[in-house]
Amino acid sequence: MKALEVHDLRKTYRQGGKVVEALNGVSLSINPGEVLAFLGPNGAGKTTCIKMIAGLIRPDSGWVKIAGFDPHNSSRGLRMLGTVLEGSRNLYWRLTAEENLEYFGVLRGITPKAARQQTLRLLERFGLQDKRKTPVAALSRGMQQKLSIAVALVHKPPLLLLDEPTLGLDVEACENVKVLVREIAQEGCAILLTTHQLDIAEQISDRVAIIQKGKIIAEETTAEMIRHFSGSTYNIEFEGELNHIQLKEIKALGAILTEEKLVYAGSKEGLYKVLAVLDPLPLIQVKQDQADLTQVFLKLVGEYNYV
Ligand SMILES: Nc1ncnc2c1ncn2[C@@H]1O[C@H](COP(=O)(O)OP(=O)(O)OP(=O)(O)O)[C@@H](O)[C@H]1O
Ligand SMILES: [Mg+2]
Repeated sequence: MKALEVHDLRKTYRQGGKVVEALNGVSLSINPGEVLAFLGPNGAGKTTCIKMIAGLIRPDSGWVKIAGFDPHNSSRGLRMLGTVLEGSRNLYWRLTAEENLEYFGVLRGITPKAARQQTLRLLERFGLQDKRKTPVAALSRGMQQKLSIAVALVHKPPLLLLDEPTLGLDVEACENVKVLVREIAQEGCAILLTTHQLDIAEQISDRVAIIQKGKIIAEETTAEMIRHFSGSTYNIEFEGELNHIQLKEIKALGAILTEEKLVYAGSKEGLYKVLAVLDPLPLIQVKQDQADLTQVFLKLVGEYNYV
C-alpha cells in the first residue's frame, strides 16, 4: 500500500476581491521508505498542499489518503503522520525536550510507557540527551529543528511531512538533518520534503516533484530527472578555424560557436553530424555537460513561465 496518495487537490483563496488558485489539481503518491522532494518557487502551493495532507486545511475538492486513511475524516489517518511545518511550530516552547516528546507521544495515542521509551530512544538518536531537561525556548535553532523532527516521529508514523526542515540551519546542523532523513526513510518511513536548497533535495531524495502555480509540472526519480537533462549539452573543443561553409552548416545544425569552443544542445545523432562538419580538424575534447538539480529546476520553471 502507498504511504501517501493525494488525488486532484484543488484550493482557491479569495482575498480582497482577488482569487488565488493555490492548488490546481495536484496528485502525488509516495511509497514506504521513499523520500519525495516537493520543489517549487515561492507561492507555488507547497505549504498549502502539506497542510492539506496534514488535515489542517480542507481542499475545495480532491482527496488525501495516508496509509489508506483519510486525515480529514478519521483520527486514524492523522495518527499515521508526523508533520514539521516551517519554524518548529509543533513544539511547546516552555516544556523541556523530554516533556515535549512524552506529551506528544501520548497525545497521538501511544501508551505513557511506550512514549517514555520512545522519548529516550529519540533523544539519544538525535543527540539531545544532554538537553532533555532544557526548555525548547533555550535550545539552539538546530536543536529545536531536530527536536521538531523527533516529536513528529514519536508515535512511529508511516509518513513524515517536512516543510523546509533545513531552513536557517548551519552547515553541520544541515548535514545532521540530511543524515537523519535518509536513516528514517531507510527504516521504512515515507517522507515528503519541501526545500529551496536544491543541493539537499538532490542528495537525499529518491524522487522529485516540481510544482508551479498550483500544478505539478514535472515528476520523476531524482536520478532520471538529472540524467534526462544532462547530456543534452555538448561542449566541443577543436584546433584551427572553421571556413564559411563549415560555419553555415554548423549554424544550420543549431550549434553555437563561442570564442574557444562549440556548444551543441541536442541528440547524440545530431552531435555526430556536427563532428562530421568539423572533420578533419583535430578535436581536443568533446564533453557532456553534467546538469544538476538546480539547473533542471530553473530550466523547467523558466520554460513553464513562458507557456
Ligand atoms: N490563508 C491564505 N489566504 C490567502 N491566500 C493564501 C493563503 N495561504 C496561501 N495563500 C496563497 O496561496 C499560494 C500558495 O502559497 P503556499 O504558502 O502554499 O506556497 P509555497 O509553495 O509554500 O511557497 P514558499 O516557497 O514561499 O513557502 C500563494 O499565492 C499564497 O499567497
Ligand atoms: Mg511554504
